[in-house]
Order: sequence, then C-alpha cells, then structure tokens
Amino acid sequence: MADFAQQLIDWQTTHGRHTLPWQNTRDPYRIWLSEIMLQQTQVGTVIAYYQAFLDRFPDIASLAKAHQDDVLAMWSGLGYYSRARNLHAAAQRVMTHHRGRFPETLDGIVALPGIGRSTAAAIAAFAFGTRAAILDGNVKRVLARHFAISGYPGEKKTETALWRLAESLLPAQQIDTYTQALMDFGAGVCTRSKPDCHQCPVQAGCVAHATGQIHLLPTPRPKKALPQKTVRMLILHCNGKVMLQKRTNKGIWGGLWSLPEIASQLDSKQHCLHTFGLAVTPAGSLPLLRHSFTHFHLHIAPEIFSVAAGSELTTAVQIDWFTPTAALAAGIPTPVRKLLQQLTASDVHRTPC
Ligand code: ADE
Repeated sequence: MADFAQQLIDWQTTHGRHTLPWQNTRDPYRIWLSEIMLQQTQVGTVIAYYQAFLDRFPDIASLAKAHQDDVLAMWSGLGYYSRARNLHAAAQRVMTHHRGRFPETLDGIVALPGIGRSTAAAIAAFAFGTRAAILDGNVKRVLARHFAISGYPGEKKTETALWRLAESLLPAQQIDTYTQALMDFGAGVCTRSKPDCHQCPVQAGCVAHATGQIHLLPTPRPKKALPQKTVRMLILHCNGKVMLQKRTNKGIWGGLWSLPEIASQLDSKQHCLHTFGLAVTPAGSLPLLRHSFTHFHLHIAPEIFSVAAGSELTTAVQIDWFTPTAALAAGIPTPVRKLLQQLTASDVHRTPC
C-alpha cells in the first residue's frame, strides 16, 4: 500500500482545493501574505481581505514604504494585529537586508518577524519546493490521531515528537501538493469535532480510528482557570466624534487605535482634565464587556463622557478624534469595535456638546 504522504497526495489531486487565490503562484510575497492571514482565520474570511491587501500593496516594496496605520487599516476586522505589524516590519527588513528579494532559505525566512517554523516551511514548500515539514494546529491533530500520539500538543515533549514524526513522513517529491493536502485534509476531513472518517483516504492506517480514540485525540489542553483582569475604558465624545488613543507597539493591541484606559482608583473627570486637557461631564455607561485572550480574561467597564470644553494641551500620548465610521475602518481592537458599534446604535455620541 502507498505510504501516508502518497495517499494524501493522491487524495489532494482529486479532492483538495486548487483554485484558492494564493494557489497557482510561486510568488513568495503572495504566499507569505496568505499564510499569515490564514493563521487563526478561516479561508472564507481571508479571501476578501487578501485581495484588497494585494490591490493596495501589490509587492514587498509598496508594503515596506507604507505607513503603519494604513497597513493596520487593511487588517481592520481580521484581528490579531501583531500579524500585520510583523508583516510590515518584515517587508522593511526584506528591503534593507535582502535587497528587496524574499529570502529563499528556511533559516532566512524564519528569521523574519512573525514567521515561525511551520509558516516558514509552508512558504518554502509552496514558493521554492523546499522539502520541509509544517506543523500547525490542524496537522498536529491529524498526526496525533493517525499515529495515536497522546499528550497535549502545546507541551514541549509532545510537540517535539510531532515535529520528528512530521519530518519523517515527508515525500521525496511533490512537497507543495503534500503540504496543501495536509492543510485541506485537516480543514475538511479530519476536523476537530466531527471528523468525516468515511471520506478519509488514510483511514486504514489510522490508529485512533482502529482503537476508538478519535474523540480523545489530540489530548486537550490541561484545564487551568485563567486570570481575570478588569479595565476601565473612556468613551469621550464631542460633535459626533469619539476620541481614540494610539497604543504603543508593545503589549496587547500594539499600534492600534483604542479607547483610553484609566486606572481603577482614578477620578475620570480629573484624569481627562490633566491628561487630555478636556472638561467632561458623565453621560452614562455601556454594559461590562468580556474579552478573552489565550492567557487571561479581560473585563472592560466602558464609561461615557461628553466633552464640555477643551484646551490646547500637548499630550504625551497620540490622540485623535474619529467618527464611528472612520474608527471602524481603522485598526482597532475587536472589543473596542464592539463598543463603538453599541455606541452608534445608542445614538449617545450624537448629542451636542
Ligand atoms: N491554512 C493555512 N495555509 C493554508 C493554505 N495554503 N490553504 C488553505 N488553508 C490554509
């Protein structure tokens, strides 16, 4: 019988995807962009963003030259904005350190900001035919089931075993077809909650299937209560516009326009006067909003204020006023997007000030 890789390659030829916008090209920029957008985001969502991004930044040089705000705006709504910041920084690095040519070696690719080992391997396989193993979440699941590898794949020991296995399975030829096969098979057949084992081209060799362990593998993340944090956010509005503050590149939501935060013990009116030079009057609040990160849960307490008067004050932070429509088109964090949508629906921000 043909081996695991050959069976998947044969399956890909008849059942895999062949017409996605980032296929049928060897242009590393287009492939790189797709692999970054497809991290944490479904194909169906990515397609429109991908095409719009390429229209705006058709090559590495145009991306490198762009302003960060314009790059983040093209990412608006996709989330995980560090991907966009890293993409931008990597494009600049390709211009300064690689004379504008995307590096062709795995080491060169993985050294760029925002590109991990698996993404580098996918880019190298698709763009240059490099024989390198990928190991994203889907592939971890496929291998953990097929070869009955137990242990949480996010744990170093299990991950190392999976990398070794992934490398041992690589076909001698058609690495690009095999890589796409693993992705398509993981996304469409060997899915997390309802795998379609009847359609599986490698079912005969699947240890989890033979031993009734499909739903036990991969081993789930050990359950740990995540820390909870609460933050107060200020919605300062004036003449239909809302004040946003640009966050620094470090920490969560780096480089995004966000609502200003205020420490729990501070008085909002005093704070607005001292920090922004604005006299404000309270105008209500929005319900507490919960937003989960991988490492903690954030509770956001939004407080609304009308601006009564403003004085010219040079602030240490970068602030600007946005209509809700303009804010929603900029790079803003997902929970801030939700708050601004609620604000628009409530019409509070339209009251004159
Ligand atoms: N997910 C990650 N990379 C992908 C690709 N090249 N095609 C489809 N889904 C993907």
